[in-house]
Amino acid sequence: MRLSLSINKRSLGFSIRNRKLEMKLAVLPGDGIGPEIVAQAIKVLKALNITDLSMTEAPIGGAGYEAFGDPLPDSTLQLAKESDAVLLGAVGDWKYDKLERQLRPERGLLRIRKELNLFANLRPALLYPELAGASTLKPEVVSGLDLMIIRELTGDIYFGQPRGISALENGEREGVNTMRYNESEIRRIGRVAFDIAMKRNKKVCSVDKANVLETTELWRQVMTELSAEYPEIELSHMYVDNAAMQLIRAPKQFDVIVTGNIFGDILSDEASMLTGSIGMLPSASLDTNKKGMYEPSHGSAPDIAGKDIANPLATILSVAMLLRYTFNDEANALKVENAVKKALAQGFRTADITTNGCKKVGCSAMGDAVLASL
Ligand code: IPM
Ligand code: MG
Repeated sequence: MRLSLSINKRSLGFSIRNRKLEMKLAVLPGDGIGPEIVAQAIKVLKALNITDLSMTEAPIGGAGYEAFGDPLPDSTLQLAKESDAVLLGAVGDWKYDKLERQLRPERGLLRIRKELNLFANLRPALLYPELAGASTLKPEVVSGLDLMIIRELTGDIYFGQPRGISALENGEREGVNTMRYNESEIRRIGRVAFDIAMKRNKKVCSVDKANVLETTELWRQVMTELSAEYPEIELSHMYVDNAAMQLIRAPKQFDVIVTGNIFGDILSDEASMLTGSIGMLPSASLDTNKKGMYEPSHGSAPDIAGKDIANPLATILSVAMLLRYTFNDEANALKVENAVKKALAQGFRTADITTNGCKKVGCSAMGDAVLASL
């Protein structure tokens, strides 16, 4: 099927005249369950028969280290830069934990986010009705949940300088990280959140720790200033400790949550469990031009790698986000999402979301079930 011609060519950096509408996708399976879940997602993507879509695979994380001695090899970064989008599995394995920090798989992930300027991380937490019983919370607390966490991804204590572990004069060691945000970083992620909320229920909750941390006091000020440009949006503020509690107490009060890198990391893992399993949560990381990297929110789960039991749905749903945000192809995005719904409605479940009376399947069989429902 042809890609919809309504693609915003300017924002994707295309010249419109006399050119084929070509899309390049970099596929970075990574480590652990990464290769097996990505294989299922690619299977689904290929079945859509999108013309002029080319895919190139490259190593990242531990796989990058094994191949080139670098968790983000130059060739992989180059490929990612030249591509319109990146599909990533997961990185990390305990066997690399002893390597020096720069060589560890996670550094590859953090570097590619930074190098591609993917500052906006979208993590939707959506409860599929079929999975209400799989959540650890009561069905009435989570049923109907549809929440979008917007996490800033290239700033904060993740990247702030100074950082490091050094020796004090008294011989003791000290660890330092620095929480930093400047106004423009806060404003641009705020805009993403407000714009997305405009297409949803027009509610934004900005999460900070303004009672203690100056960085997030500024965050609150800038969000409040920005909200003047969005009179239709109902902006609220919440301290992160309260937000963590409210997410469990009454998660349906939220529509869009916008927060910094570290708080977003923590709250998005928490929110994932509302949906039954972290294996259900896709994510998109976007730059200002909607070039994006798409990955499941979960990790590489080395303990179950290669056993064909991982849940591929978060990665398949990440393909839907890729179609929606970078390819501007809402029709195919919905097609993939509906196929996932159908597979769940037919009772197919991987181990992480299994409830009584369902058809327990492995990773590739779940991929097949989605494929059959396309
Ligand atoms: C995530 C992960 C990463 C992060 C790790 C693997 C570096 O937890 O994507 O949420 O902390 O951002
Ligand atoms: Mg995380």
